[in-house]
Amino acid sequence: FYRKAPRKLEALARQARDEAYAPYSNFRLGAALEARNGEIFLGCNVENLSFGLTLCAERAAVVSAIAAGVRSFRRIVVVADSDEPVTPCGACRQVLAEFAADLEVISVNLQGRIYRAKLSELLPRSRAGILNQPEARTRAKTAPKAALPRSKKKGKHM
Ligand code: THU
Repeated sequence: FYRKAPRKLEALARQARDEAYAPYSNFRLGAALEARNGEIFLGCNVENLSFGLTLCAERAAVVSAIAAGVRSFRRIVVVADSDEPVTPCGACRQVLAEFAADLEVISVNLQGRIYRAKLSELLPRSRAGILNQPEARTRAKTAPKAALPRSKKKGKHM
């Protein structure tokens, strides 16, 4: 755990935040999801005139990673312009937990104020009992591998 957010991840999350589409709330967020292989996947919130269709930054980052064939994650940095750093919403916690129950969540505001937690603290027992899943297993370990070509190059994906 860190007193400051990891520099590179925070910088990339800020870049993603700059791309956020939030004309209704004007509340823009960026997320940088670091995979265990070092690759970084970015997400921003994407709102919709039909408000309930809004996609959060964190889930956007997860979707980007999954589409690239990456399912194993170390940490996520979330950046927003708020006094209190924004921790992922309940829906995003559950989606993140699908792949990384022990994910490190690092939330920062634009002033650098930071809040850090383990996803398992933010969302305990995310999988217990569902379809008879044991609590400790994570989907990333048990999911059948997709027959996708895996990119070998490191770098950021948008
Ligand atoms: N939002 C996120 O992108 N992530 C969060 O963790 C909290 C909420 C977005 C959704 C919506 O576009 C705006 O923030 C206000 O709720």
